[in-house]
Amino acid sequence: MGRKQASSDLLRRRIQELRNALKKHNYHYYVLDRPLISDAAYDAMLRELQLLEQQLGEPVPADSPTQTVGAPPSTTFQARRHGLPLLSLANAFTDDEIIDFDRRVREILDGMPFRYLVEPKVDGLALNLRYEQGELVYAATRGDGRVGEDVSDNVRTIADIPWTLAGDVPDVLEVRGEVYMSHAAFSELNASQQRCHEKPFANPRNAAAGSLRQLDAKVTAARRLNFFAYGVGLGGDALADSQSALLQRLAALGFPVQQTETADDADALLRIYAAWQQRRGQLAYDIDGLVYKVDDFAAQQRLGSVARSPRWAIAHKFPAEEVVTRIRDVIWQVGRTGVITPVAVLEPVHVGGVQVSRATLHNPDELVRKEIRTGAQVVVRRAGDVIPEVVRTIKAGTGSMPAVPTCCPVCAAHVVREEGEVAIRCSGGLSCAAQLKESLKHFVSRNAMDVEGLGSKLIARLVDERLVASVADLYALDWSRLQQWEGMGEKKVANLRQALEQSKRPALSRFIYALGIRHVGEVTARTLAGAFGTLEALMAADAQQLQELEGIGPEVAASIQDFFSEAHNRQTIQALLANGVQPQAEEVAATPSDHPLAGKTIVLTGTLEQMPRAQAQARLRALGAHVTSSVSARTDLVIAGAKAGSKLRKAEELGIAVADEAQLMAWLEQG
Ligand code: IVH
Repeated sequence: MGRKQASSDLLRRRIQELRNALKKHNYHYYVLDRPLISDAAYDAMLRELQLLEQQLGEPVPADSPTQTVGAPPSTTFQARRHGLPLLSLANAFTDDEIIDFDRRVREILDGMPFRYLVEPKVDGLALNLRYEQGELVYAATRGDGRVGEDVSDNVRTIADIPWTLAGDVPDVLEVRGEVYMSHAAFSELNASQQRCHEKPFANPRNAAAGSLRQLDAKVTAARRLNFFAYGVGLGGDALADSQSALLQRLAALGFPVQQTETADDADALLRIYAAWQQRRGQLAYDIDGLVYKVDDFAAQQRLGSVARSPRWAIAHKFPAEEVVTRIRDVIWQVGRTGVITPVAVLEPVHVGGVQVSRATLHNPDELVRKEIRTGAQVVVRRAGDVIPEVVRTIKAGTGSMPAVPTCCPVCAAHVVREEGEVAIRCSGGLSCAAQLKESLKHFVSRNAMDVEGLGSKLIARLVDERLVASVADLYALDWSRLQQWEGMGEKKVANLRQALEQSKRPALSRFIYALGIRHVGEVTARTLAGAFGTLEALMAADAQQLQELEGIGPEVAASIQDFFSEAHNRQTIQALLANGVQPQAEEVAATPSDHPLAGKTIVLTGTLEQMPRAQAQARLRALGAHVTSSVSARTDLVIAGAKAGSKLRKAEELGIAVADEAQLMAWLEQG
């Protein structure tokens, strides 16, 4: 293999890695409202991908995260196709990037006079409101930019959003804006979450997203959401000829709009940015940057758009907020998988509207690298969505450096450090009370088995009083003992009992996720559920079958197999089933028996361009087909994507019908 070939293979591999990771993060951010990484880390990955795709110089597939916005909508709400796609904004972090942006705009406009309008970038989530004959007909989230989720019932509880537009408006008008939660509403909501032993939201954006995607609009109504309009889709042209005029028009129609400023060049933009950095904290809501838009619509049109975002606008993001405080102590926290993390106990400080009194120090190496001692003055950062972290020491502490534990602070089992890993782990497994408590918390959490009313305090007590030694014990609780506990009234016990009872028929994907298999998050759990259909089939899967699935490499496959080969995990699963838990196959729609693929045994092979393989498998199953992984005489049909290999050859040898991806798409459409 030539050197050039090897390096482009490497490039392709990295591109694929980034695409997969970004898709996962999109899903966590947009669908689950529980991001795993900071906005800054996400942006850095997206930029790397953009750069590498350019470097490779090959056509970029339409589903690459550089071409799409957000994540595909989940299935709980009706899908709505936006009249015009909802674009996103390119991000800039440095002055130079703004100077470049301004230069590009000038070049393309080629002497045409223009000015910029500066708007705060509200940290919420985008909404598309569709009005017909002046009446609000539906409201949809952004989704993947083309198709979003219908959240009309919830949106109608937001007082800022008019149901009717007075006066002369286009027959069809899409108004776009941001739903957000004010700091005051956020504090109120989290206080109430705490009272109800529910998990608090990490920040106002997540709280707004979670509230908007409630299935019960009453819940949304109880959480005060707000809205700012900032743009239009279909029908917008008729409303105004510039962004500033549009905002005035939207305000006259009854929409809240933000204060704006104008600027003539990059210098002016940067001056406005500097001023906003000082005063962003004074607003009643979070903003994560400023948006600069070329004001005049004719100029906007001339500038046009690239795949994901318009060339006439840019988001100038603020850096993560940092504050200085002092370390009071360092404690060691044992997580669900046994990882022992050093955590700094801080003198409480406010960062970005949230009080912070703990910050992660990640791992023992960081203690040394950051010279962590009690009494040290440190910089703490809260990067939007993630847990606060200690960035660096600015004044050394007088205390000693905390000793790295050699045995678990909770169960005293010895501590291990695997080769090549920075993390230290407790070797106690589920006999460690901390690991057990964390596993239980994960098991009952909202996106897993979703057992309401089983908060951390109650879990701790169940473990400490030895009522529960595994997740399966939750379904065989000694209710008479529980009833005698102080603070456990009859009503509470009845509610908990009912919640547990209701959780007994989870979707298979939730159940798989709830098991807490290392490296198996919600996305992978869904893939597995879609591909295997039953728990038994998943437990019997071999490494090759697992690795055929989107997003599952050797490491994840090994972790899944390890999990199911452990005797105590198998026992726990058996006990769960014996206690009445019955995972349900995923959304298998009623089988339309007249569909040409109903009852057929099908094998998918090669790479599909238009949808992940697991999704195709799930959709075929929903049509009543049996999807299997190996070609045999019993196979009716092989669907071959790009680069199909041995399975396609075998099908040809056996004289089995072969279809291509276009045919598959046509069949799916028919369904
Ligand atoms: S304009 C085609 N203006 O930021 C331009 N967006 O990262 C569409 N956002 O999708 C967006 N405040 O959800 C615009 N004043 C503002 C905004 C704003 C917040 C959000 C919006 C958008 C995202 C882009």
